[in-house]
Amino acid sequence: MSRKRTAILISGRGSNMGALISASMAPSYPAEIALVLSNRPDAKGLERAEEFGIATAVVDHKEFSGDREAFERQVDAVLKDHRIELVALAGFMRILTPYLVNAWTNRMINIHPALLPSFKGLATHERAIEEGVKLHGATVHYVSAEMDDGPIIIQGAVPVLDNDTPDTLASRVLQVEHQIYPKALELVASGKTRVSGTRVTGGAGQHDTASLVWP
Ligand code: GAR
Repeated sequence: MSRKRTAILISGRGSNMGALISASMAPSYPAEIALVLSNRPDAKGLERAEEFGIATAVVDHKEFSGDREAFERQVDAVLKDHRIELVALAGFMRILTPYLVNAWTNRMINIHPALLPSFKGLATHERAIEEGVKLHGATVHYVSAEMDDGPIIIQGAVPVLDNDTPDTLASRVLQVEHQIYPKALELVASGKTRVSGTRVTGGAGQHDTASLVWP
């Protein structure tokens, strides 16, 4: 089996990156993490990646004086240099232009800390509490031209408790992120997923059903 050469793009601490790297240590996992790239030179995740012996790169967006496409051309060049086949965004806090999105159609995935299409954008946990939703969670999706949009691969739900703060809710959601992101990358890298329009199929067995009722 040839493992798909995967790059993880980060901007910060890289806990999802860590979950993907750990999963990829299993010999049967269909993706190998060949590169971790950050747009911030001080991202904590870079040190962690180096500890795992993974190649790292920095493309600092501040050096492109607001020219998003020039920044993305450089990111794309680094991905090509490393012969990358799949890209996983993991807390990569840059809005992408159609340039990078089109270059990686169906080969770039992202994790978002909410049950999309609810709560796109930032401050998802604050807004989930404000809106009074009872179930919240995280989504891994293929990246499309719209922010936090694109065909959904997997979702994980958690309950919202009466006394939750944005921080307590964030840490419950983060645990589910670490569960679903390795599973999503496995599905994509093994070629099990099929994208047609806005829908992704092939992720679950016919008899996999589960429900979470809360409260
Ligand atoms: C994660 O919660 C991820 O879902 C979120 O940033 C955090 C990064 O944490 N991403 C977004 O908000 C993207 N819209 P990590 O660096 O520990 O993985």
